[in-house]
Amino acid sequence: MSDLKVTDVSKENWMNSVFPEWGTWLNEEISEAVVPEGNVRMWWLGCTGIWIKSEASTNILCDLWTGTGKRSHGAGKMKKGHQMMRMSGVEELQPNLRVQPFVIDPFEIKDVDALVVTHIHSDHLDVNTAACVHNNCPEAKFIGPQQVVDTWIEWGIPAEKTIVVHPEDEVAVKDITIKALEAFDRTCLVTCPDPEVVLKGKVPMDMDEMAVNYLFQTTGGNIYHAGDSHYSNRFAKHGNEYDIDVALGAFGENPRGITDKLTSVDILRMAESLNTKVVIPVHHDIWANFMADPNEIVILWEFKKARLNYQFNPFIWQVGGSFTYPQDKGVIHYHHYRGFRDAFSVDNDTPFPSFL
Ligand SMILES: [Fe+2]
Ligand SMILES: [Fe+2]
Repeated sequence: MSDLKVTDVSKENWMNSVFPEWGTWLNEEISEAVVPEGNVRMWWLGCTGIWIKSEASTNILCDLWTGTGKRSHGAGKMKKGHQMMRMSGVEELQPNLRVQPFVIDPFEIKDVDALVVTHIHSDHLDVNTAACVHNNCPEAKFIGPQQVVDTWIEWGIPAEKTIVVHPEDEVAVKDITIKALEAFDRTCLVTCPDPEVVLKGKVPMDMDEMAVNYLFQTTGGNIYHAGDSHYSNRFAKHGNEYDIDVALGAFGENPRGITDKLTSVDILRMAESLNTKVVIPVHHDIWANFMADPNEIVILWEFKKARLNYQFNPFIWQVGGSFTYPQDKGVIHYHHYRGFRDAFSVDNDTPFPSFL
């Protein structure tokens, strides 16, 4: 029961006492986690945001987004020049509301060795995350493609903290090597916020300056992060050239007229092409109008795995949950820890023993 009186209540103290919804629960869990030898642990922070921690406690933060989508109907119209307007010729406001709680407190983030961002979209490249990493982790590097780095510098991140990567570049961060690879995010190529710029009939912009995929090479295994890549034949090339243990792809139910997220079939094709051991759908959790049920992937995987001799399994995660590789290899469904393992470690207190 609250100790407050109704006269004490204000919008401000409601916001301060409720947000972020998980407080520092996950910050504490990550900071205290000891990754078993020969493993790597990740936590899902929502959208394509993940925290990677190696056995030597190297911490990589990738694509953490701390913002929201629509919060008002406004005038009901999309911002002119928006990538979705360009993609499908719409004018009506896109109902993209954020549907996940904030599972991490960005202001309490510490010990990050590198903030790594896949591409320029605002649900991946975030000013709050940049500020918190900059202030709380003075040694952290800011790694991303050219336009991501340009944006960080515009926001006030010192240039000497930043590292621009192009496909094939490698950056060593303690015991993790970050390899940049081509992204296949065609939504990026129609992203040009200036409404006066017309893309029709023009040579597309250079994807490599706007978006990259990453391979995080760790002592526990290699994690492929596909950012917001669409399906591409070239996944097979990446699969030929690199040992991939865990692959994350941006899954979602595309509204009509839109091709933006990987479908369940695309996720399976991506996994097969990358020769990954585990595939993890992400991003389907975050936008109200792109939500999808990842069990669809499991059903199709069950349906096809014997016929196509799949050598991987899907892992269906929950935001705020962790995944340790290879320890959790073979797990299909994540469930948060349910507690109560100490049941009856002390006497219970009910009116009589058979009460419950
Ligand atoms: Fe994107
Ligand atoms: Fe996205």
